[in-house]
Amino acid sequence: MSERKKVTLRTLFQKVADGIPITMLTCYDYPTAYFQEQAGVDMILVGDSLGMTMLGYDSTLPVTMDDMIRHSQAVRRGSPNAWLIGDMPYMSYQPSTESAIRNAGRFMAEASCDAIKLEGGENVIERVHGIIGSGIPVMGHLGLTPQSVSALGGFRVQGKGALQAKKIVEDALLLEQAGVFGILFEMIPDRLCKLITEKVKSCFVISLGSGLGAHGQLLIYHDMFGLYPKFKPRMAKVFGEAGKVILEGLKSYVSEVEGGEFPQEENWFSMPDDEYEELLSLLD
Ligand code: KIV
Repeated sequence: MSERKKVTLRTLFQKVADGIPITMLTCYDYPTAYFQEQAGVDMILVGDSLGMTMLGYDSTLPVTMDDMIRHSQAVRRGSPNAWLIGDMPYMSYQPSTESAIRNAGRFMAEASCDAIKLEGGENVIERVHGIIGSGIPVMGHLGLTPQSVSALGGFRVQGKGALQAKKIVEDALLLEQAGVFGILFEMIPDRLCKLITEKVKSCFVISLGSGLGAHGQLLIYHDMFGLYPKFKPRMAKVFGEAGKVILEGLKSYVSEVEGGEFPQEENWFSMPDDEYEELLSLLD
């Protein structure tokens, strides 16, 4: 394990002050968290996107708190030092402020998260106040909010028109006033993201497919390594074709086992001759 220092809000705001972009990735499992820790990723989001990337659902809606806690615990074991954010799944905060506080608390108590994220602005502002009032740092999420994909009319860019863009700015300012430490903007136009980044003073802005004007960037891990078979969003850049490498390896395995090339002597364990002879006599 690396000798890395624990990332704190202080570290993150120092990066903002120094003009160094914050790095953020999604992560859902121990080995990937280990690699992200070694690479020095600042913030890790255990996103409810795990419903699609890890569990194979068509949306994030079926994901439960128990799913989120199990994956967050694994990620924390792999990355003790990144700023770890648990993503509040569908219906874990919408019903009431009490449910929001209880479920946010589970991420902190059961998975050693540093913060939680939830989707929405004005519509969830009471929940945000309640969670922050309980001493739990909150990240907001505006723009394309996948838990409302049905109401938004699909996975599409948000805030292209002035009226919708104004609502996003207003929601961002409300979240800032409520005390969030950061706001994630997913798929809003770059100019809108930059404008909001310039407006907010007490929180930082992270972009997912929303341009360079933010204080930091987020990518979905599976998109950056070609690991999600159903589609690759336009906003994602593939940094390595891990999916192709794995598929080639799997095909080789099938062909080597079927062709008798695997395993070889170095892949198994032998028994001394005398022990084997004795075994045969014991079995007689
Ligand atoms: O669940 C997730 O990974 C997210 C990102 C899409 C922002 O919320």
